[in-house]
Parts: sequence; structure tokens; C-alpha cells
Amino acid sequence: MEEQTSYVVGLMSGTSLDGVDAALIKMIDTNDNLQIDLVTYLSLPYSRELKQKLREICTPEIAKIADISSMNMYLAEIFSEATLSIIQQANLTPQDILLVSSHGQTIFHQPASINIEGRDITSTLQIGDIAVIAERTGITTVGDFRTRDMAVGGGGAPLVPYADHMLYTNKSHGRVLVNIGGIANITVLPKGATASEVIAYDTGPGNMIIDAFVNWATNGKHDYDREGAIAASGKVNEKWLTKLLAYPFFHQNYPKSTGREMFGTQFARILWEEAEHLAISLEDRIATITALTARTIATEILKFIESAEIEEVIVSGGGRHNLTLFKSLQVYMSDRVSVVGMEAYEISADAKETVIFALLGYQCLKKKTNNLPAATGAKKAVVMGKIAWGNLIV
Ligand SMILES: Nc1ncnc2c1ncn2[C@@H]1O[C@H](COP(=O)(O)OP(=O)(O)O)[C@@H](O)[C@H]1O
Ligand SMILES: [Mg+2]
Repeated sequence: MEEQTSYVVGLMSGTSLDGVDAALIKMIDTNDNLQIDLVTYLSLPYSRELKQKLREICTPEIAKIADISSMNMYLAEIFSEATLSIIQQANLTPQDILLVSSHGQTIFHQPASINIEGRDITSTLQIGDIAVIAERTGITTVGDFRTRDMAVGGGGAPLVPYADHMLYTNKSHGRVLVNIGGIANITVLPKGATASEVIAYDTGPGNMIIDAFVNWATNGKHDYDREGAIAASGKVNEKWLTKLLAYPFFHQNYPKSTGREMFGTQFARILWEEAEHLAISLEDRIATITALTARTIATEILKFIESAEIEEVIVSGGGRHNLTLFKSLQVYMSDRVSVVGMEAYEISADAKETVIFALLGYQCLKKKTNNLPAATGAKKAVVMGKIAWGNLIV
């Protein structure tokens, strides 16, 4: 069988708005099998000003169309810079790279339809223009994945489970992959799962509320709870936690999805004021809000332990580094289930989603379907992604 080796750069910027992640992967394609090796990874943090600007254009009430338009172009410059840096970091040149695959930055996502002139319309918007990336790097660039899935009735998310299924399904036991970004989500892979047996959805906040609390508790000095140290120094306020767990989203049946719209700054602010009112100390607030993330993730996973024969939970995303969060996930699982970091599978927790977007872009270029209808609710499998051709291919 013919074997093709190529290098692909994946780019991802998530709901945390912390920066852009880039992963350079080596793909070995033998037609019926894709082998993926992570060559190198980097994260380019956004400046304070950029984060603030992005937060603004993610907030429909204050977003201005002129800012959205210019940020679409500006972010693409940053993404191009990240692409060129990672190629250099790997001691390669742009000529060596087959493809850049960019998720972009989501600034709006509305999977529930609204009615416009009698038609049901869903929509999503990712910025960081791929034409600019293709021009700056000279490399063919794929992006704008989500709209194609929506065009066939899907929610445009989650997209990662397609690759989770391809790469991590195990014949002898079930697995759950958890990604803890701004929002946390799970992919349930029952033992030997077929594509239609995969279950994937958002469980609620990941780091988003923790980040906001840490920022307020430290008067803006810190943006996140490094290694979960602040949470570890506090005590979970069980009474307040019980109240927080009553929030409707946590009792909605799966599949469900959420974002900054629900668990963003406004929501965090309400909880913060509640804690203030209850005279809960800063450490205990952060401990409790961290427990909220752990509990809501664990509660969802526990639903599948028996039916999907789950023996392993694999954690990725920046939240993997929050050790208080990570340890409490293990506490909520039975002894039969081991909780491990993504690095156990030779992909760092931070790089995982980015690696997967590289794979989704590769499939697009090869004209292969790359959505998972069981996860997005789409009527059929489609080839997601739009292509901006690079200068190097003529
Ligand atoms: N060393 C660390 N300790 C604790 N939390 C961390 C650490 N590194 C990253 N994080 C958390 O991970 C978040 C970023 O996660 P990421 O997976 O990039 O999310 P997103 O996909 O939403 O951008 C940060 O905002 C922070 O809360
Ligand atoms: Mg991020």
C-alpha cells in the first residue's frame, strides 16, 4: 500500500481567549490508516489588550462590526506568526508543510435555530481569515469547519469526537476523553465503538469561572490558578456547591452544548457576588468553583461507566494542569477507572485539540468526510472546511 508522509500545522484558539496554540504534526497516510506524530507544539499568548478586544467582540451587546472585521484580519496575522514560528521551531521551512489547518477564534455560536422569513437559521462565526494565513505563510490553509456541519442540520460542534473516535477507540474497554478548556466537554467511546455509538457533549464550565475568580481575587495579577494551588489552599463550601449544582444546565439531558454566552464573565460575576454575600473566603471560593467543574464533569462521566464499560478517563486541555481539579476527578471515579493525562498517549494536554484540527484539515484536503453526525446531530457526514490555496502550490 502506498504510504504518504506529510507535515501539517494545526492552529486553535479556544473560549479561554488565552492565546493561539499551534501544533506541527507528521502524518503517515496509508489510505486505510492515519498515523499522527506530534513533532512540536507552541502557544503564543495574547496580550492583555488583545484579550480585552476579543472579549468585547464575543459579547453581542457591545460588539462592533468594524472591530469584528478588523480583528478577523489582525488575528490572522498573529496566527501566521505562530505558524512561521512553529515551522522554525521544528527546523523545517514552509516548503515542507502540506497544509495549515486553522480552527479560528469563535466569536459567536448559535446552534439553536432562529426564524428568519420562515426559515430556520443556525449560525456560527470563527475569525482569523485563512486567505491572510495562506498569503503570509505561502501554505495552503483550511479553516471555517463548522458552517458545513450546520448546513446539514448539525450543531457545528463538537468536532473533536470525530478524531477521538478514529484515534482512541479501544477494543477491550471503554474510554472517556475529557477536554478542560474554558468550557469542559467529554467524548464517550464505548468499548469497540462504531461512529454512531460515540456520545459527546459539553458538561459545563471548565476553567472559565476559575479564571475569572482568580483574576478578581488577585486584583488582576493572575489570570488562572497555577497548578490549582489557590484551590488547594482553600476548602470546598459544600452548601454553596450544592446550590451551584442546581443550575438548570447541569440537569439538562445530553447532548448539550454551552459557551461563553452562558458561563462567561456575567455569570461568574453573579457567583462572585453571591460568595461575597455569603462571606466565603477568597480561597474557599476558588476551591468551591473548582469543585463545581470537577463535579459536573464527573457526574456526566459516571452515567456511562457501566453501559460503555469505561475503565479509563483521559484528560486534556489547559485544565489538565490544575492539579486540584485533576485529583478531584479521580476521587469522584471508582477505583476501577483510572484518570490519566493526555501525555500518557504522547500528545501533551495542551496540544491535543490543535493536533485534531490539523487532522480535520488534512481530511478536508483529501476530500474525506470529517464530521461525526452522532456528535453534532448532522443529517449526514460531510467534508467540512474551506480552502485558501498557498502560493507554493502551482
Ligand atoms: N499550569 C496551569 N495550571 C492551572 N491551570 C492552567 C495551567 N495552564 C493552563 N491552565 C488553564 O487552562 C486554560 C487554557 O486552556 P485551553 O485548553 O487553552 O482552553 P481554551 O481551549 O478554552 O483556550 C487557562 O485559561 C487556565 O485556566
Ligand atoms: Mg487556549
